[in-house]
Amino acid sequence: MVTVQPITPDFAAEVGDVDLGKPLSPDDLTAVREAFTKFAVLVFPDQGFDDDSQLAFARHFGPLETTVFKLRKENKLRLHENLADVSNLGNDDKILETNDRLRLYNLGNRLWHTDSSFKRIPAYCSMLHARSIPPIGGQTEFADLRAAYDALSEETKRRITGLVAEHSLMTSRARLGFSDFDETERKAFDPVPQVLARRLPDSGRMSLYLASHAGAIRGMPQAEAEALLKELIEHSTQRRFVYSHRWRVRDLVIWDDRCTMHRGMEFDDQRYKRDMRRATVSDVAPTCEQMGLAVAAE
Ligand code: OGA
Ligand code: MN
Repeated sequence: MVTVQPITPDFAAEVGDVDLGKPLSPDDLTAVREAFTKFAVLVFPDQGFDDDSQLAFARHFGPLETTVFKLRKENKLRLHENLADVSNLGNDDKILETNDRLRLYNLGNRLWHTDSSFKRIPAYCSMLHARSIPPIGGQTEFADLRAAYDALSEETKRRITGLVAEHSLMTSRARLGFSDFDETERKAFDPVPQVLARRLPDSGRMSLYLASHAGAIRGMPQAEAEALLKELIEHSTQRRFVYSHRWRVRDLVIWDDRCTMHRGMEFDDQRYKRDMRRATVSDVAPTCEQMGLAVAAE
């Protein structure tokens, strides 16, 4: 049977006694899913995945997303189209140069975000596997948006109930001054509506739903919306809500994108290789639909 060892009381845990590279027994899958209802971040040390076995494990949780890199015709994918390449490597497995577009694009991962909130049906969970890591730096930080919601004042909870934010990948990239998108990308990254507060159907807990991709709130003056989003992100990323993961090679970390934000920390990416590969599982429906909100198409 799998072992679950809490890292924090109810946000992050380590899971042992399971080899995810082999077909998973129904009991083990149930135990993992149960742990993942309570803990939004699970760390599975020493998983010897190759790309195929990583994808096979991820598919137990639902349909997989296709990498956004595929939208741009000139991009040649280094990995399978269902794996997001979170590395600092090019197709020749050499370190990307300072001005490489891919490197600059991936710098967006340094901002607090949740994966794919810029998609109408966003991510349910992400599964990131460490193939090689730098000796220092390059941690990933995770913020618990359920705990952050619970800690809001009743007045703020009331204020944000029913609010709908607009998320676009171009919004987060614009924060870094990055705007090199072609026509296909611009179309794919048109803003999509997402609730600001959501209830998780499996645990019943409420959560904020935030990301650097969020840039506006429907029906709210722009300056007010930006101030509110900034305050909520600052609130949610206080140290008491954050778990910082120091990677070991062969760690698989899975996180619930419905109720966490994460960011990659700096490392010397011109000196060290960091090869991280992510499979991402889609959620079941748009967040507004899940919360029973009718939202006008815009
Ligand atoms: C991701 C991501 C951060 C990191 O894989 O979605 O944002 O530390 N990663 O690599
Ligand atoms: Mn991410």
